[in-house]
Amino acid sequence: MGDIRPFMLLLCLESSCDETSAAVVRDGREVLSNVIASQVDVHARYGGVVPELASRRHLEAISVVIDEALETARCGLDQIEGVAVTRGPGLVGALLVALSVGKAIAFARGIPAVGVHHIEGHALAIQLERPVSYPYLALVVSGGHTHLYRVDGVGLYRTLGRTLDDAAGEAFDKVAKLLGLGYPGGALIDRLAAQGDPEAVRFPRPLLNRDNFDFSFSGIKTSVLNHVRGLATPLAEKQLADISAGFQAAAVEVLVKKTLRAAHAAGLEEVVVAGGVACNSGLRREFAAAAQREGVRVHFPSPVLCTDNAAMLAVAAETYLRRGECAPLDLNALAVWPLDAAGSRPSTSHGS
Ligand code: KG4
Ligand code: ZN
Repeated sequence: MGDIRPFMLLLCLESSCDETSAAVVRDGREVLSNVIASQVDVHARYGGVVPELASRRHLEAISVVIDEALETARCGLDQIEGVAVTRGPGLVGALLVALSVGKAIAFARGIPAVGVHHIEGHALAIQLERPVSYPYLALVVSGGHTHLYRVDGVGLYRTLGRTLDDAAGEAFDKVAKLLGLGYPGGALIDRLAAQGDPEAVRFPRPLLNRDNFDFSFSGIKTSVLNHVRGLATPLAEKQLADISAGFQAAAVEVLVKKTLRAAHAAGLEEVVVAGGVACNSGLRREFAAAAQREGVRVHFPSPVLCTDNAAMLAVAAETYLRRGECAPLDLNALAVWPLDAAGSRPSTSHGS
């Protein structure tokens, strides 16, 4: 399936949730384009992602984003040497759009395709901006995940902790919804929290003092709900800002303290924070302050590489393709796919 030369031009495609994205990346490092079509307007009125609508929108958008990614990168499809697609986890109908288009392009052009784990993409995205040496601790905080991984290299991941209920992003979105702020709520809470007093209302810090690295966010969310139920509605701007600030402070404190504790316990000096919630300004600020105090280096990708995007797939894809690990044409999408050990390998033999 085609020679793999040292300077590989990869076309990367991502459609696991509600963003359709295509990117062209050179050599697994240099992002020549990273086009993202958001579906937020489609799902906002339902307060969450509607799978059927997501698949339909991906179908409409995929060729448009690919054309734009190639045009921005000033390259033709005939120059692309490999295709990277998100194989899972995610909504199957959504995943299948990028996966099918990616395999079709690879087949038509006689180039290799490779399936990449979505969370692997998030955990490695930082490498597109600056080299962070392995091993490192990755905190992946998104709408579907809140996981701590030890990353020993591409394809080498071990789960050290995870949320036992809601993901951090899910909690931000649910709190925003119950405050009537809109969807998706993370960025809205972040903005309101900046005007509020984080001490005005104190919400619980679940599992903070437990001797493990697991998280729980549904208790904080319920506590916000109970607090709001006791107030006269509609809430004043100041109340909304204070509740947002109090909720964000609780979520951030747990994330920062448990992550740094895990880094110490695992003897890791480099920490990477990734996924959509890594855009949060409070989380960035508190990590920076704590890292300075504790002598740990904490790296955040730029916001565009934190939320879902296709370029983040290139780091793993380039390594796998160089090793000759490419996907068979019957490679299937996986709604559920643990990142640890063999689960992360885009092997030709399992999972389809
Ligand atoms: O990684 P991502 O784009 O998609 C998933 O794979 O889930 O993450 C989306 C999540 C949403 O829950 C969104 O509310 C949250 O990231 N998010 C934020 C911020 N920006 C996005 N949460 C807190 N603060 C933000 N500034
Ligand atoms: Zn994501």
